[in-house]
Amino acid sequence: MPTFTDRIYQLRAARASHGEIEHWVLDVLDQLLGLSYSQGARAEVYLGPGGGRADVLVQEDVVIEVKRNLDDERDDAETQLRTYFNARRTLNVGVATDGIRWMFYVKSRGVPRLYHEFELPADSPDTHLKDLILVSLQAFRRKTPPPVDARQLCDTLKLGTPTFRLSTELLTAGSAVANRFRVERRAWIAEFKSVYPGFDDLCTALGEGNLDTGYSRLYIRHTYLVVIAKLLAAIRIFDEAQLHQMIDHRPGEVLDGTVLLHNGVRVADKDDYFSWVREPSDELKTFVRELFLSLERYDFSTVDEDVFRLLYEEVIDADTRHRIGEFFTPKWLAQFIVEKSVTDGQYVVLDPACGSGTFLVESIRRRASLREKAGKLTSNDLQDLVEQTWGFDINPLAVLLSRVNIYLVVSRIAHRNRLPPIPSFNPHIQTADSLSRIRSSRHRTLLAHGTGYYLTMAQQMVPVPPSVTSLDEAIRVGSSLSKVCESYVSKKAGGQSHKQALDSALELAPNAYRPALKEIVNALRDELDDGDGIWGLVYRNKVVPLFSGQFDCVVGNPPWLVYREMDSGMKAVTDYVLTTYDIKPPSKVKTSFDLAIAFTLASATYLKEGGRLGFVLPRSLVSGLQHLPFLERASSGGLPIHATEIDDLQGVMPPPFPHGIPCVAAFFERGGDAV
Ligand SMILES: C[S@@+](CC[C@H](N)C(=O)[O-])C[C@H]1O[C@@H](n2cnc3c(N)ncnc32)[C@H](O)[C@@H]1O
Repeated sequence: MPTFTDRIYQLRAARASHGEIEHWVLDVLDQLLGLSYSQGARAEVYLGPGGGRADVLVQEDVVIEVKRNLDDERDDAETQLRTYFNARRTLNVGVATDGIRWMFYVKSRGVPRLYHEFELPADSPDTHLKDLILVSLQAFRRKTPPPVDARQLCDTLKLGTPTFRLSTELLTAGSAVANRFRVERRAWIAEFKSVYPGFDDLCTALGEGNLDTGYSRLYIRHTYLVVIAKLLAAIRIFDEAQLHQMIDHRPGEVLDGTVLLHNGVRVADKDDYFSWVREPSDELKTFVRELFLSLERYDFSTVDEDVFRLLYEEVIDADTRHRIGEFFTPKWLAQFIVEKSVTDGQYVVLDPACGSGTFLVESIRRRASLREKAGKLTSNDLQDLVEQTWGFDINPLAVLLSRVNIYLVVSRIAHRNRLPPIPSFNPHIQTADSLSRIRSSRHRTLLAHGTGYYLTMAQQMVPVPPSVTSLDEAIRVGSSLSKVCESYVSKKAGGQSHKQALDSALELAPNAYRPALKEIVNALRDELDDGDGIWGLVYRNKVVPLFSGQFDCVVGNPPWLVYREMDSGMKAVTDYVLTTYDIKPPSKVKTSFDLAIAFTLASATYLKEGGRLGFVLPRSLVSGLQHLPFLERASSGGLPIHATEIDDLQGVMPPPFPHGIPCVAAFFERGGDAV
């Protein structure tokens, strides 16, 4: 069976008549879009005096003008559409098409204004044509853009929507010709593999038995979310004309977020795992245009919640998330915890498992309103709020979504208070392993590697130079490693031996760092020899938590995972916590001990004396024998934190998590016997 695309290309090559092309359009509407006559797609409709007959009318508000060749008949088509708009008030959208070229017009003061166009590539599958038309039409079905919320964004972009299908299809096609795709995908795989147990099983399932296909599918989905997030931030910054101009002329810079950076808004690191899209092919150009079309029909100026929460859940499927202990918190529960924990507008707040930023967004809103109560909000307050908001997550995608969420909510607060946008936005939201303090002190003790810290990267132990003792230095050593790795990779690619490349790359680093950086490059030699230079960034993300300051408040919903489902690395960390804090459960229930409790103790190390911690924790905290030693010591003062309140959320409606997973809201304060 020829596809619709094959048929229209044949018709056009044979110089088909107007009637034949109109017939093809009706078949597309009927068979591809399911718009049969009864559902409102009618041909040759009389529009009343002065309107004449429209070729096709869809559901009273879309009129389609069919032409044999739009290149020659565009003016005529526009005149016709204007006539139709004048004759029928209900019409909002006009489409002119010759089957290959499609031009979409919106009624603007009674006149057709071109809003979008696409050309149907030869050999496209039918789904491609269908999605192109649906995305274009949906974008026009609006009068004034509605304010967006998490639910709407999710419904427009989740799995199975035309935008999702079209985007992932175009991204997949674009990935085949992008040079950096494989390199960045490899670094992304290494990163996720080292932190998520069962990552390969999960990708194998996604790839229907083929691991490599599964990697690519998940990576493409991540890239899809990343570009959505970057586009949303761009939509908030630029006006419509600027955006169209950039998408048409600098699509690569829109796709990789460079346009944001040029405006002082840093939502991603320059070398994140998703910059392969910056070399846009035709497919990627179409992708960004179509995606923009789906997004620009909303008003993002009123966003005051984590808009990505639901979408993230839908796009990264539930099974995947469960296996990695991710249950995203509903807004009301995050608000509840934040309200109880963040009692001062000046607090410096950390969410050590920030996900897409639900708690961080709420903590900003909360502190802004506390500050507003104390007096008029100023631009300095906004800058402070950003500076005083910290988030860590091991998932780089989550970090990017958090950053954009924070940008949207801070912009909203600025707008509401008639303040200018903040001039420089670079929040402290990092891809970081919040357990790295615990992991590295464990290594230090157990492996007796001298005085410095050791970290695990790509399954190797790598050192932190002993001279690094502050956050600034931690960031500096990460940048040094980036430079060294990049130089080493390019020198190796240029034919130098390992020793030559290493020696000359190390010259770029300060003397004090050289021995440690040499050890790291040697440990990562296989990865670097594959041409992968992203390790400086990964390293920095692991080192930063070691030297992060002391916070007034820590809030969030840590990863939940019972002992029996942990991989060996997590089991070792948990064992270390159980021993160090003397909270070993009876051995028969140890398999049910939850990582969330170990995470709570690790997070307490980020608190200043008297600081507050509010977490969503599994209900087994209060009901399970496995957590009793922890609970007893947290109540009697034998731990660095003591419990101040635990609210049982059993039976609360609506249930916070799917499948009725029971939880509590637990509050602690730093103070007690330090371990
Ligand atoms: C239960 S989700 C909570 C997300 C978010 N706080 C919320 O409630 O909506 C847990 C998050 O912890 C992150 N995570 C898991 N292990 C981590 C680690 N060692 N360091 C930092 N983040 C981690 C996961 O990537 C995930 O985003």
